[in-house]
Formats: sequence, C-alpha cells, structure tokens
Amino acid sequence: MKWIDEYDSSAKDYDRLVKLYDDWLGIDMMHEREQFADYIPAEGVVRMLDVSTGTAANFEAIVHRLGAAACTRLDLHGVDLSMGMLRVAREKMRSLGLDCLLVQANVYNLPYPDDQFDVVLHSGGMNTFSNIAAALEEMLRLVRPEGTVVVVDEGLSPRVRASERGREVIETNNLFASRPPLEHLPSKARDVKVDYIMNETFYRVVFRK
Ligand SMILES: C[S@@+](CC[C@H](N)C(=O)[O-])C[C@H]1O[C@@H](n2cnc3c(N)ncnc32)[C@H](O)[C@@H]1O
Repeated sequence: MKWIDEYDSSAKDYDRLVKLYDDWLGIDMMHEREQFADYIPAEGVVRMLDVSTGTAANFEAIVHRLGAAACTRLDLHGVDLSMGMLRVAREKMRSLGLDCLLVQANVYNLPYPDDQFDVVLHSGGMNTFSNIAAALEEMLRLVRPEGTVVVVDEGLSPRVRASERGREVIETNNLFASRPPLEHLPSKARDVKVDYIMNETFYRVVFRK
C-alpha cells in the first residue's frame, strides 16, 4: 500500500520521471518497449494482458510499432492497483484512439478465469512485489496453453554488474542489483529464456505454459 500511495500521487509525472532513465542509462525505453510486439501471434484476434500496466506505456509502444490499424485485432487488457496510474492510462488510450479494458486489481488476485490470454506482459513491478512467486503463478494461470509470459524489470546483466559503471548504477539505485526471479518461477513454466535489454540494465524472462 505504501508503493500504491506513491504511485497514486506521482501518476501524472510518471512518464516524465521514467524518461530520466533514458539519459542516465543510455537507453530509449519507449523504443525498447516496442519489442513487446514481437510476442504477438501473426494472425487472428490476440488477447493481451499487461499486469501492473501503470500508464499503459507498453500498449502505447506497441501501437507505435504496429500502427493503429494493425492493433484493431488486439484485445487489450491492463490491470493495476493504483487508480491514479489507471486514470493516466485511460487518458492516454483515449488520445491514441486505442480500445483497451483497464481494471483495478491486485497482481495476486487477478479477476479473470484461467487460460484467457495469448500474451501476458509485465514490466517494472516485479522487484518490489512482496510475493514474487505468487505474482508469477498468477501470470501463468492466466496465459493460455502455448501462450507467452514476458517479465521485464531492473537488473543488470552479469557483465555490466561486474563493471565499474555497474557498481555505480547499483549504488545510485539498488533495484538494479535485482536478479531475474528464476527461483520463483512456477514449476509448470516451460521454455524459460533469460536475456538483458535496455543496454543490459533490465532482465527479461520469457516463459510459456
Ligand atoms: C514501476 S511501475 C511500472 C508501470 C508500467 N508497467 C511500466 O512499465 O511503466 C509499477 C506499477 O506496479 C503497480 N503495482 C504495484 N503493486 C501492485 C500490485 N500488488 N498489484 C497490481 N499492480 C501493482 C503500481 O501501481 C505501478 O503502476
């Protein structure tokens, strides 16, 4: 709840504050978010859930990459506990003309039946969740068999972690000391892949049901 209070009060400034990472880390985060589009199956209606969607920056990036017309086959759902963040997301989706269902919900108890989504995305909250295993279990529950779960959060690659620059980054913001949450993955997670994006400053864990 402490985090949610903070997100509620900083929601309007969130996108601007996140941009500070760009200069500091030498990245273009909005551009990198466009990679989420790579997980969208090539044909048919695709149901996609963004867990802890915040200001819906992931959906904004996807529409930027694919174009609005190509997004009409996407059935987009975003959940977050912070109403402040969801309000900013709603305005953004409106201004982009993007249809998206935004729901206030807790990552540990998402209001959907099992096997609902082709793709479940999550970026930016995992490292601060009090029960990472339960959050990952819930994401796997909601993805359909053969569907994909993608989890991205702060965490330096082993190479950057060992460098002087890496030590400086961690000293400035300890979230970057986080490691991919492999020990918390549900036992049913298959085809687990780990790599590092955003100039090797964020881990990406991808798995399937
Ligand atoms: C760092 S922001 C990331 C937002 C967005 N995914 C992004 O990449 O910009 C973390 C988000 O997690 C949400 N959050 C934190 N704890 C949550 C919980 N237990 N259930 C759902 N959302 C939560 C916050 O409200 C916030 O919007």
